[in-house]
Amino acid sequence: MFSWDNFIQEQTQQLPNLRIWRAKTRHDPRYLQLAEQNLLNFVSNDYLGLNGDPRLIKALQDGATRYGSGSTGAPSMSGYSQEHAKLSLNLAAWLGFEDCLLFNSGYQLNVSLFSALVNSNTHIWFAKNSHASHIDGILLAKAKFTTFTPEQISLVVRAIETDPIKLHIILCEGSFSMDGSCNYLAQLLEIKQKFPQQVLLIIDDAHGVGALGQSGYGTLEQQGLDHRQVDLYIGTLGKSLASHGGFVVGNAALIHYLRHSVRSQIFSTMLPPAQAAVSNAALAIIQSGEGIQLRDKLAQNIATFKQLALTSGINIYQAEENISAIQLVMLNDLSQLNLLHQHLLDRQILVGKIAYPTVAKNTPRLRISLTSAHTYDDITKLVATLAEKYHR
Ligand SMILES: Cc1ncc(COP(=O)(O)O)c(C=O)c1O
Repeated sequence: MFSWDNFIQEQTQQLPNLRIWRAKTRHDPRYLQLAEQNLLNFVSNDYLGLNGDPRLIKALQDGATRYGSGSTGAPSMSGYSQEHAKLSLNLAAWLGFEDCLLFNSGYQLNVSLFSALVNSNTHIWFAKNSHASHIDGILLAKAKFTTFTPEQISLVVRAIETDPIKLHIILCEGSFSMDGSCNYLAQLLEIKQKFPQQVLLIIDDAHGVGALGQSGYGTLEQQGLDHRQVDLYIGTLGKSLASHGGFVVGNAALIHYLRHSVRSQIFSTMLPPAQAAVSNAALAIIQSGEGIQLRDKLAQNIATFKQLALTSGINIYQAEENISAIQLVMLNDLSQLNLLHQHLLDRQILVGKIAYPTVAKNTPRLRISLTSAHTYDDITKLVATLAEKYHR
């Protein structure tokens, strides 16, 4: 019988895995505080432990007092405030670009960006392990596209060479959300240099901006590369800035065009000004000496985790190259994944349990998200508990 009840039941049965939504009861940078339990938290994106910082909370309160609880409209109507203007300016100046456009989230940005950039003469090349928001945005744009693996980069170059009248977008992440650092960013910058007019290079460094590199410019800086060679540099405000929203920086003409053509800029209510005030306060910390210290602590924690894990014989994905806050423990099969995840959970340690379709088949992994708030003891406890069952 055709009915919506049957349809939903059938679809639900086909879902590969049901995720658990844990309702936290308050915020702590190290723990996921639930009503019944306190889990040592290795799944947070709060890479610098700034969520809950009194300065950010005050910025939220002051912003709400001044502007109210919401923004009241799209940016071109009544939604744009001085806090938004200041944030755009601050982000562009900090990252060394001419202009910046704010979005309600990184996901919204990626879903709406590509529709404005493609036509029948464009082709998008993007990394095979790209974030869902890139895939969704490219499909929505009805863009012509090809995915590539690191081994196929030379094929991308050849395709651009042989099709000089086409315009190409190369899209990649600084740190992949399920794989850690991208280790071929230098090659992508070289392609941009080789085809300056034909190629628009877009790097989304949602997991790197603020958290990585001496100045917090992200994965490119961490790898000794210049992020300003990218045409559009994307970040989120919801991870190391402990705020909310997405942003893209680029040259003035490009951002001006996007401001007036990306549909989410026109048809969606702007981020609350108080939220932009939080981002401004977080950015001030990130740019200060304190920001450098927090990033040093994060880098130390990443190194400690890798060193302890490798000493315990644990298989870390691209241990040498992956210097991001996202570390992956690669496993043989789903039963090992379930066993280890549960073993950690039974000891109040929460890590990400990642399997197909989030990652390729036969590559199940535990995803460990490190922050500057973790202590040496937290990391020792994680690795020791993991090692108890890893080799069985
Ligand atoms: C590469 C990448 N881009 C965008 C996003 C989405 O950003 P937001 O959480 O601000 O929607 C994520 C989220 O994890 C991401 O990994």
